[in-house]
Amino acid sequence: MTKTDLFEPVTYNGLTLKNRIALSPLTRARATQDGKAGKLQADYYSQRASAGLLITEATAVVPGGRGGPMLPGLWEDAQIAGWKEVTDAVHAKDGLIFSQLWHAGRLSHSSLSADGKSAPVAPSEYSQPGEIFTETGPQPYEPVHVMTKAEIREMVDAYEAAAIRAKEAGFDGIELHAAHSYLISAFLNDMTNQRDDEYGGSIENRARFLKEILEACLKVWDGKRIMIRLAPLGHAYGTWDTDPETLFTHVVDMMNDLGIGWLDLVEGDTGVTRTPEPFFDVLKLRKRFKGPTILNNLYTREMAIDARERDNGDVIAFGRPFIGNPDLVERLKADAELHEAPLKAYYGGGARGYTDFPTMEEA
Ligand SMILES: Cc1cc2nc3c(=O)[nH]c(=O)nc-3n(C[C@H](O)[C@H](O)[C@H](O)COP(=O)(O)O)c2cc1C
Repeated sequence: MTKTDLFEPVTYNGLTLKNRIALSPLTRARATQDGKAGKLQADYYSQRASAGLLITEATAVVPGGRGGPMLPGLWEDAQIAGWKEVTDAVHAKDGLIFSQLWHAGRLSHSSLSADGKSAPVAPSEYSQPGEIFTETGPQPYEPVHVMTKAEIREMVDAYEAAAIRAKEAGFDGIELHAAHSYLISAFLNDMTNQRDDEYGGSIENRARFLKEILEACLKVWDGKRIMIRLAPLGHAYGTWDTDPETLFTHVVDMMNDLGIGWLDLVEGDTGVTRTPEPFFDVLKLRKRFKGPTILNNLYTREMAIDARERDNGDVIAFGRPFIGNPDLVERLKADAELHEAPLKAYYGGGARGYTDFPTMEEA
């Protein structure tokens, strides 16, 4: 076998990972209508617990933070027990699991909000083309409600409350989803943030929302247990920042100053290309960041081994390959063939296309 440390255990921030492979966060839309995880998710994540680190699917901090139906949350205490089942099942297999906390921002829909009619929220007006999948089928994205400063404060509190619930649910840490044009990312990027108060304009101002969320989460979690997902070159939903190198250098410096433990760095445009234009070498951010960096995007076995050989990053996260291969780590180790899950299995559908993919042995 190729000599690599990809499959060797490693300790970062006091957590020992069984190997340097992570499960990238994957929305699978199999929660209950009221956003609860449970036995089904416990089976799914524990099937993948041979990865060194699991990061959950995006988990909404308020109902209106969901980007579609059947997505889970941690916006109320009643959602803790289902996630506890998940963390217990993963820990029973000596796995580690972080909860990805999320708000979709303008990429949500009023039908998902707490009262079923409140407009999705955003830092600024932005007319999003396209459609969102809702319970009544595809609907056009709606005009947003621009957040007031009081509402920003409330949202920071919602992140803190969700961080507390994640701790109660037994997670090993939390990841803040700050990518893909969702709420935090929409504050960061100049294309989606046109505010003229202290949350818009300069890079420092655009990063203030994230900073306040981090400060709130640090009241709950040690910084060593907090991760941030960034996609500095992402073009999700047709939006990006026009000077990503300066913006994300500032964000990484802020993470260092606050003692944030982990960086989850998507290289390129998520799921599309590793080299979008305009381009800068995002590995510079890894060098600048003081903690371990997880790399992701379109990795193959060979690329992952090569990335470790070059020490480009500390851990490699796989997304789609984990869908059809619960034992992806073992398959990569054996250089075995990977099963490609059909696209229709990605979102929704219960156990089918979710927990029924066999391991190599079972196959
Ligand atoms: C079905 C699906 C759901 C995803 N859900 C999330 C999510 O909830 N949060 C997130 O940060 N990224 C999400 N992503 C992006 C993946 O984490 C990952 O960045 C992307 O698939 C590229 O990695 P890969 O080439 O290994 O699949 C999703 C991707 C797919 C295909």
